[in-house]
Amino acid sequence: MNIAVVGTGYVGLVTGVALSEIGHHVTCIDIDIEKVKRMKQGKSPIYEPGLEDLMKANIERGRLDFTKCYEEAFAEAEVAYIAVGTPEKADGTADLRFIEVVAESIGRHVQRDTIVVTKSTVPVGTNDYVRQLVEKNLFENVNIDVVSNPEFLREGSAVHDTFHGDRIVIGANSQHAADTIEQINVPFGLPIYKTDIQSAEMIKYASNAFLATKISFVNEISNLCDKLGANIEDVTAGMGMDARIGNKFLNAGIGYGGSCFPKDTSALVQLAEQAGQPFELLRAVMNVNEKQKRLLVEKAKERFGSLQGKTVALLGLAFKPNTDDMREAASITIAQELILEGANVIGYDPIATENAKKVLPGAVAYADSPEEACKTADFAMILTEWDDIQAVSLEEYKAWLKEPVLFDGRNCYNPAEAAEKGIQYHSIGRQTTGTDLVLQ
Ligand code: UDX
Repeated sequence: MNIAVVGTGYVGLVTGVALSEIGHHVTCIDIDIEKVKRMKQGKSPIYEPGLEDLMKANIERGRLDFTKCYEEAFAEAEVAYIAVGTPEKADGTADLRFIEVVAESIGRHVQRDTIVVTKSTVPVGTNDYVRQLVEKNLFENVNIDVVSNPEFLREGSAVHDTFHGDRIVIGANSQHAADTIEQINVPFGLPIYKTDIQSAEMIKYASNAFLATKISFVNEISNLCDKLGANIEDVTAGMGMDARIGNKFLNAGIGYGGSCFPKDTSALVQLAEQAGQPFELLRAVMNVNEKQKRLLVEKAKERFGSLQGKTVALLGLAFKPNTDDMREAASITIAQELILEGANVIGYDPIATENAKKVLPGAVAYADSPEEACKTADFAMILTEWDDIQAVSLEEYKAWLKEPVLFDGRNCYNPAEAAEKGIQYHSIGRQTTGTDLVLQ
């Protein structure tokens, strides 16, 4: 089919590239002409493993193109995907500004009966609003249908997730629209779940809110483990053996970040508020997450008394590995808190440094390797479990740091082994080890 995809952020670009890979003709639209030029040459504006190879292959096959111009994209399009951002407004609700502009533009440019598919995460009811906005500007005798087709991909494994996801959700109020979008997606070979539009919109929010809840729950349990002498990894291993709980998404850490969980949980809380059905549980999930981001700094303060004048190496700055995304990364809160405590901060990330410079406090210095960061520092904090950070040996930390004290926000090492190697090792929901080794 001929498909137009509006918006080339994480969701739009991956969607466009994946649809071209399974055989459709896709034109992606973006308002940024420089970005369009680069994408036409097969250069991805985001760091996403495997994406550029697929981009290049499908550009070569003549199935994938990029443009700034709606006329060009809609000359042949039978289906239009909306994949623009829905950022968080100051009041926590989803900002639909970009969706509105795109829906109106689509209305002005569709040449034939078209199915408009919303990929962006939007509050329940938005697809009806999209329909109204598109219909406002339509040519005579042109009809549109709207479909909600939420995206569940994870950054850093977006390409893999698109081809190996758990399900494709299609929300439509017309059989024809549901069947057409199903046909488009059949080549992915994934389970397809069809429902009405409102339910599809809710599936997306409910899924993200549930996953965020799972993380905050496990973080609370890990803090209790800390206090009561249990080991969070043994606890989650035992919990995860219950198929009703599942063994995924039970990693305790320094709180969730990224472009989805923080924004979508707060949008759902606001949506619930507006519906007169306050979502108390989700509010608690969000509060726990904020507290968890500060945990390592609290542990460091407890260990050192004062952090004044200490230099701290922050290893890993992106909100998770395999992405250059700094949105809502715990490193932002941690760097701010450390600086407030009078510490100096030197950060290292294999990929996200340029983006980090835009959002971390100006006082943060940057290193080109874990070694450089640690050799400058008194002690270190592991914030993101990148492979190259996990590859640092305990012996290296011992050799590099002025004080061999490690605060591991991602539980990368074995606590007993760390102590054996002469490290005082503070991790999440596990006993601190090596306390007798280090003199302050
Ligand atoms: C998430 C959802 O997984 C995805 O389905 C949705 O489409 C978008 O939001 P993403 O934000 O890319 O994807 O990353 P994810 O891998 O889910 O991690 C989110 C955050 O949770 C990260 O900060 C990660 O470190 C944290 N996390 C994840 C944990 O702390 N523990 C876990 O067990 C899992």
